[in-house]
Amino acid sequence: MRKKIIAGNWKMNKTPLEAVTFAKDLKAKLSGSSGPAGGSVPAGSSGPTGGSGPEVVFCVPFVSLIPVIEALEGSNIAVGAQNMHAEDSGAFTGEISAEMLTSIGVSHVIIGHSERREYFAETDASVNKKVLKAIAAGLAPIVCVGETLTQREQGITIDLVRMQVRIALGGVPASDARGLVIAYEPIWAIGTGRAATKDDAQEVCRAIRQIVRELYDEETAQALRVQYGGSVNAKNAAELFNMPDIDGGLVGGASIKPEFESIVKGA
Ligand code: PGA
Repeated sequence: MRKKIIAGNWKMNKTPLEAVTFAKDLKAKLSGSSGPAGGSVPAGSSGPTGGSGPEVVFCVPFVSLIPVIEALEGSNIAVGAQNMHAEDSGAFTGEISAEMLTSIGVSHVIIGHSERREYFAETDASVNKKVLKAIAAGLAPIVCVGETLTQREQGITIDLVRMQVRIALGGVPASDARGLVIAYEPIWAIGTGRAATKDDAQEVCRAIRQIVRELYDEETAQALRVQYGGSVNAKNAAELFNMPDIDGGLVGGASIKPEFESIVKGA
C-alpha cells in the first residue's frame, strides 16, 4: 500500500513571518493526522511507513525554508524547496544547490514545475540533471509533468508525458526510482479553477505507472508515487486522491489557505 503524499506548493507567496504563522497554525491543526517519520524521506524509500495519515510536505520559498523548518519542529510535516540547481557549487548567481538544501533539513524538492519550464526555460534534460543530483544528495524529488490544453486537444497527452517521464528518469536506478514522486499536473488545470476530472487524472496517472513499469519493473511501478496537481481544493481532493493510481496531490493555491487542512484530512 503506497502512502499518500500531499505537498503544498506555496509558489512565490508569503514573507518568512507570514510563512511561520501559517505553518504553526497548520501544524497545530494537523497534529496527529500525518504519518510519523520525522518528516524526512530519504530518496530510495517509498515514504514513511506506519501511521494512517498522508505524508505532508510544505514546499516554501527559499527564504522561508529555515524559519518554517524551525516552526514545524516536533511535527511530521516535511519541508521542501520549489527548485534547485543541478551543480554542486560555482558561478551560478541566484541559484541554490542540493547540499545547501539538505544542510538545513530540507527533505523534498519540486523539480520541473511547468512554471519553471515556461518562465525559466527548464527542459526535460535539465530536469533530468536535477533529479539525478537531488537523489545523490538525499533529497526526495517531486518531478512535475503535464500537457498544455493544445496538446490535450491534439490527443498527445500520453505521448508527451511518456517523453517527459523517460527523460526525467534517465540514469535513475530502480532502487532510487521507487522513492520518487511524479506529479501529473495538466498545465490547463493549474491555477484555473478547472481541475481534471477524476477519470481523466486517473487515466494519465495510470499511464505514468505503466511507463515506469516498462522502464523498470512491477515492484518499482507499485512503489513510485504519482500525484495529481491542478486546481485541487477541499471539494475535489478526496475523490481525486481515492483513484487507484493517484497517491495524493501537489496543491498550489489551496495550500496557502486554511482549506489545506481539509485537503490533508480528506486524504
Ligand atoms: P494550483 O497549482 O493548485 O493553484 O492549480 C498547482 C501547482 O502549480 O502545483
